[in-house]
Amino acid sequence: MKASIKNIGILTSGGDAPGLNAAIRAICITATEKYGAKVIGFKNGYKGLVQNDFIKMTDLNWDQLLASGGTVLGTSREKPFKATEPDEKTGLMPVDSIKETFKKNKLDCLFCLGGNGTNTTASLLSDAGFPVIGLPKTIDNDIYGTDLTFGFHTAIDVATAGINQIRTTAKSHGRIMVVEVMGHKAGWLALYAGAAAGADAILLPEIPYDINKLSKCLQKKMAAGQNYAVVVAAEGAMDTEEGKLDKKAFKKLRAKATESMGVRIARELEEASGKETRCSVLGYTQRGAEPSAYDIILSSQFGAAAVEFAAQKKFGNLVAWKNGKIDVTPLSEVAGKIKPIPMDDPLLQAERDLGVCFGD
Ligand code: F6P
Repeated sequence: MKASIKNIGILTSGGDAPGLNAAIRAICITATEKYGAKVIGFKNGYKGLVQNDFIKMTDLNWDQLLASGGTVLGTSREKPFKATEPDEKTGLMPVDSIKETFKKNKLDCLFCLGGNGTNTTASLLSDAGFPVIGLPKTIDNDIYGTDLTFGFHTAIDVATAGINQIRTTAKSHGRIMVVEVMGHKAGWLALYAGAAAGADAILLPEIPYDINKLSKCLQKKMAAGQNYAVVVAAEGAMDTEEGKLDKKAFKKLRAKATESMGVRIARELEEASGKETRCSVLGYTQRGAEPSAYDIILSSQFGAAAVEFAAQKKFGNLVAWKNGKIDVTPLSEVAGKIKPIPMDDPLLQAERDLGVCFGD
């Protein structure tokens, strides 16, 4: 195939997620085998791009990387457009350093694998004329413009297993157990893992909870013979009072919080119900697992498609999953947004029909 893309760069940015290495592998194999391109991988997200710190993506053990968690390139939350002073290594302002990196390596395309922060930076790079393409990575599944992100399905599997283990101890002790899951400002992971684990209640950022309604709902379930309850709480959950605040006031309030939401909800629930309640925070186990088969397949499709879009010079786009197939969404539409759970989401409705309490 005529190599319209000779030199390619890759970076992984933001929270790591299962499937990153599978996506990197797909990009590298498609680019080198199909287009004879050279691929370099910038280390630690945008920091490596700024400092031209990269590895040649050759002689890597693709078989081993396919199913390995994390990112072989390392990651960071570096935001080059937010810099207020020159980079300590290049002495240039980060965006000027990036220009140098593109020139030195004659980059025909840069693939940015990341979440919301990464896509915002990628969109700004695209606006500045750089040939970039984004791939939707995050366990949160909260990226606007794609139905699915890679990492999400694996995190559901991990969180579901964790919740099921917590149910065992809830039952043994006759306790209410609150399991806090990740998901940043959206509730996708809490909803899906809570549903998969048959939680009695699921608390989402999208539905502010009333602790008394939650308590009554759980007490009704426990009065019907179940001596325990399992509550899955998204880390971004909020109560009805907080739900009335504007974004700035809410952010200020949360910045002062001395406990995570799961711990707080467990304390509030014990006070409201009089039932012994504990919290377990699943934390980073939801990010560090080896990718599920589903995520390997999704990541591989994203990676191969990204190279094709680059060959067609479809820069400035996020590779997306829409209605069961690969598509694109302009990065300019993705930047600065998140994708909350819509109130008419079919799984949300199904869980309500199954008697799951959402605190409202
Ligand atoms: O975006 C993925 C994520 O794991 C979120 O679910 C979580 O809130 C955040 O990253 C944690 O960020 P950090 O790794 O910087 O602590």
